[in-house]
Amino acid sequence: MRYAAITGWGMHVPERVLTNNDLEEMVATSDDWIVSRTGIRERRLAAPHETATSMAVAAAKQACDRAGIAPQAIELIVVGTFTADQQMPSIACEVHRELGAARAAAFDVNAACTSFMYALIAATQFVRTGMYSTVLVVGVDINSRFIDYTDRGTCVLFGDGAGAVVLQASEEPAGLLSSVLGADGSAGHVLTLGDPEQLAHLNGVSEMPRPYMKMNGSEVFRFAVRIMGDAAAEAIEQAGLTYQDIDALVPHQANMRIIDAAARRIALPREKVWVNVERYGNTSSASVPICLVEAEREGFIRDGMNVVVVAFGGGLTWASGVLRWGPGSVVRERIA
Ligand code: ACO
Repeated sequence: MRYAAITGWGMHVPERVLTNNDLEEMVATSDDWIVSRTGIRERRLAAPHETATSMAVAAAKQACDRAGIAPQAIELIVVGTFTADQQMPSIACEVHRELGAARAAAFDVNAACTSFMYALIAATQFVRTGMYSTVLVVGVDINSRFIDYTDRGTCVLFGDGAGAVVLQASEEPAGLLSSVLGADGSAGHVLTLGDPEQLAHLNGVSEMPRPYMKMNGSEVFRFAVRIMGDAAAEAIEQAGLTYQDIDALVPHQANMRIIDAAARRIALPREKVWVNVERYGNTSSASVPICLVEAEREGFIRDGMNVVVVAFGGGLTWASGVLRWGPGSVVRERIA
């Protein structure tokens, strides 16, 4: 059997901090409301010179360094995002250029906030089938460029960031032991960015040149509370494990109440759940890889642990898996 071990990881968040108190000056909200409904205290916003590509490249370089590989060793780059700086070329191709990853194929995946998980699962299949042995997976979103900062229902929730991992073929169980993907296109209207009606409206409004996110918060909330727990449970079952075998939960960071519900569903105590939503808000596709980087740094996840990763997002979409953390035994010779 071939597995796709995670052998490198990296993250980038912008320096600028937008606190709940800052938001009180911008819309009719309060620190109390935001903290009690979401758990978020602050989020990071990209500076004018930063782009989704620049954040992705920063995270990707760290991941390659950590894995000990030169960019020329990468055979495939998959970037999960729904806030690309432009429609073409893809961020994956921009990362390809910036890294000088001359041998790599490159493409983007869009599954809204689930994009990184979709990208990770897709990349894992390329490794497991033997087509590639070294793959770079990035999750990045520059949400602040697509938020209406007069809409209190969305602007308090989102932040910017990027996270990346390197996958390498391993002969021992490592990386994803199970993979769950799902979608419900019939409910896509509850969370949109640039739907045709909005674009038609914006075409006549010069001061709002970009499309922005629109959300039915309570509908998304109900969906997320159900699906995060169900998807986590399915991933554990598919891996042939029980709840007792799970060492940690690393969930998409959208809302503390959604995270708590997911943990309850798989009977995991709070101390085994990685949470950073209070510092970054919802960084969408970057949320899970940023959590992995910080959780590893703090010793919260260690080699040999079974870590449930799970996310949901617009589409609607969801994805989950059980990750066996650690390098396994990497089979590929390294091209340094
Ligand atoms: N400050 C103060 N009041 C607010 C704010 C705010 N920032 N936002 C909404 N309210 C008000 C509403 O207007 C409403 O007022 P009303 O009763 O007078 O109409 C009231 O608070 C309650 O609104 P609800 O939507 O019922 O509040 P809820 O408890 O559901 O919390 C929230 C809202 C935090 C948005 C929640 O629904 C949620 O987290 N939903 C999921 C959102 C999410 O995770 N989105 C990411 C999707 S991932 C992706 O792919 C992009």
